[in-house]
Amino acid sequence: MAKEFKKIGILTSGGDAPGMNAAVRAVTRYAIRRGMEVYGIYEGYKGLIDGGDGVKKLAPQDVANIIEKGGTILYSARCLEFKEEAGLKRAVDVCHQIGIDGIIAIGGDGTFRGASDLCKRGIPCIGIPGTIDNDITCTDDSIGYDTAMNTVVEAVDRLRDTCESHARCNVVEVMGRNAGYIALETSIAVGATAVVVKEDLNYKEEAVFEKIRAGRAAGKRNFIVIVAEGVENYSEGLAARIQEQTGVETKFARLAHIVRGGSPSLSDRLLAARMGIAAVDFLLEGRENVFVCERDGKMVATDIQKAIVIDKMYKSGFTPSVKYPEKELAAYSPAEVEDMKAFCAMREQEVKELLAISENISNY
Ligand code: F6P
Repeated sequence: MAKEFKKIGILTSGGDAPGMNAAVRAVTRYAIRRGMEVYGIYEGYKGLIDGGDGVKKLAPQDVANIIEKGGTILYSARCLEFKEEAGLKRAVDVCHQIGIDGIIAIGGDGTFRGASDLCKRGIPCIGIPGTIDNDITCTDDSIGYDTAMNTVVEAVDRLRDTCESHARCNVVEVMGRNAGYIALETSIAVGATAVVVKEDLNYKEEAVFEKIRAGRAAGKRNFIVIVAEGVENYSEGLAARIQEQTGVETKFARLAHIVRGGSPSLSDRLLAARMGIAAVDFLLEGRENVFVCERDGKMVATDIQKAIVIDKMYKSGFTPSVKYPEKELAAYSPAEVEDMKAFCAMREQEVKELLAISENISNY
């Protein structure tokens, strides 16, 4: 049912991602156009707890010249206080004091959990996925992912130049938290010899050594191996073992936060604009406790709680610390559970296909 909003808040929370500013701009401009006042909440949920200067009214010109900027002009933080009842209560009080009657929260799964907690306390919220990891199972794409991958590709292309000159191998660790998407897609784009991700349960280190030995025997000078950071405490040791087992001199590089910065790509700017507008529309349609997902090119609203359960179902398949959500699934009908399982199977298939592409074209 359509709903009216007078003042909405916008925040960015969790790890920043290129394109967050483009989303802030889209939400602010479109919401003002639809007759609302927009308040920027600074440093994520912390700004909402602090109140005062933590929350400021935004005019359309306040979001001018930010579409091309990396980081987030609203700043970001991971706020532990917001996980406590007292912090949440304080945030709700600040909303009431200012008259904020809806919030759009840009970030990853932690941000959505916060949004959901606010919804349960009477403040309608809509999430927008902004994370380089692309690890939110229900959406095909998240803001920042494309830019981060382009940054990885640029960095690895440079590493390859020097590897070729010196006949070396370079193991490159890329971010992605528990998800291997950045590693998988960039490994294909840079023509890596091998990729190591948590999702690949059949991975064998010896197969990597063998490929490098065979490549070197055939005259190949450079080798790139991409490792997802989710494979914990692994990449640096792998570099040492490759050198030891193959005789190819091997360097190690961890790209870390370098891939979180920089100007967003065209694709991320477009996604941010589309998701920003969809989030405001969903709010006005009376939706809440949902986040914007891109599915087959369309913007759809997905229930946050359900998405969290689907995330757990999918990630429990390859992350020992994530337990299969048996109990949570009891809240859904058998047909819904089947749909959720089918969704996870689709993601598993996607990963298998990416692994196969990488493998099929990596032989020297
Ligand atoms: O979620 C984005 C991300 O960059 C992950 O890829 C990474 O594991 C994490 O955040 C790093 O967090 P922090 O910036 O707090 O070190």
